[in-house]
Formats: sequence, C-alpha cells, structure tokens
Amino acid sequence: MKKTLIVSYTPRFGSRTKQLLDCFLQEAQGKTEITHVDLVEETPDLLLQENLNVMLKRNFTNEVLSGEETAVLAKNDEMLQQYKAADFIVLVHSMHNFSLPAPVKAWFDAVLQPNQTFNLTEKGYEGLCEGTKAAVLMTTGGDFNLDVVKDMNFATGLTTTCFGITGIPSQHISAYGMNMYLDRIDEILTESKKEVVELVNEWYN
Ligand SMILES: Cc1cc2nc3c(=O)[nH]c(=O)nc-3n(C[C@H](O)[C@H](O)[C@H](O)COP(=O)(O)O)c2cc1C
Repeated sequence: MKKTLIVSYTPRFGSRTKQLLDCFLQEAQGKTEITHVDLVEETPDLLLQENLNVMLKRNFTNEVLSGEETAVLAKNDEMLQQYKAADFIVLVHSMHNFSLPAPVKAWFDAVLQPNQTFNLTEKGYEGLCEGTKAAVLMTTGGDFNLDVVKDMNFATGLTTTCFGITGIPSQHISAYGMNMYLDRIDEILTESKKEVVELVNEWYN
C-alpha cells in the first residue's frame, strides 16, 4: 500500500481548515497507509544556535557528528525521513500574515536539507524526491482571487517552491474568504471538499 504523510496545523477551536483535513482522512481511509504529523503536538525544532550549527557542520562542511550532536537533530531528522519515505504528502494549514504559519515554515526548514531532499547545482535545484506527489489544503481570511490582493498570497508560491525544489509537484486546494464572505463559508468549504474528494480519487483509485 502506498504511503501518505499528512502534516497539519489546525490549532483553532472550530478550525475550518480541519474540516478539509477530516474530509481527506475520511475519503482516504483504507486506501493508503497514513502517517499523520500534527504540528501543534509535534512542532519542529526552530533552527536556533545549537541545532543550526550542528546541521551546518553535517550538511555543509561534511563533518562527522558525535552521538550527542546527532541527537540534537533527531526530531527534525525524523520529519525528514517521513518526507523521504512518502509517496504522497498532504500539507494542511491556514494563512498567517500572507504566508505560512511559523510551525509550517519550521517543518519545511526541517525537511529541506541538501543531499537529502535536494541538491543545488549549476543548473539550479535538483530534486531528490521525484515520484512523490503533494497537495496543500489551505484556508484564508481574505479572497486571493481578487485582483487587488492576489499578489499578496505568498503562501501558495512558497509551498509550491519548497515542494518543487525537492522534485515534488504540488496541487493546491484553497478555501479563500473565510473572514470576508461570512454568509458563504459553508458553500466555499463544500466546494473545497469536492476538490479533496476528486484528489483522493485521482491519487488512490
Ligand atoms: C495570526 C493570524 C494571521 C492571519 N493572517 C491572515 C492573512 O494574512 N491573510 C488572510 O487572508 N487571513 C489571515 N488570517 C485568517 C486565517 O487564515 C483564516 O481565518 C483561516 O481560515 C483560519 O483557519 P482555521 O479556521 O483553520 O483557524 C490570519 C489568522 C491568524 C490567526
């Protein structure tokens, strides 16, 4: 059975983004082996002084780490291994300040490691995870289909690029306008859920 990694960040009580996650889980049940990382419970380590320098030592200057140093990277490295093992990845999050909520960005900081998920060459980025597929399920307060704000959605471009440099194409299901169209929230979410069902059928049937 193909492996699916779900990575979600839906901390708000009554989260609407979680409705998209639940829809995916319900539809995909029994069709794929699922590993679910809830970033609210399992937050990646931020790259602060100790772990950043240990990571650079290993990944950029190719030095051998002590057991103690390896342990410093263990949490983020487990996320890296999950990323590399997946056939499908589903990232679920809302928008924070026009981009990714910090724990989601921290997850990309954990899994985007040179020689592991990508290489930077003279020809550009070489993805090391080709064959994997990804989808991003996102909700936002504003409506980024509107011309006046469409250039302010940095989240979709960022997730596309981050998956892309590892060789993984991503599909994006976005429920825009949760804080704008208060009388149409259910309608918008229903449309997005239909897209989630189509995605599951496309991936697993
Ligand atoms: C800290 C924070 C920052 C936000 N920034 C934006 C933003 O820049 N643009 C936007 O459209 N919505 C923004 N929102 C609104 C949420 O993205 C939106 O309400 C989303 O649907 C919430 O998802 P949830 O129901 O899963 O919590 C922000 C919300 C929070 C809590």
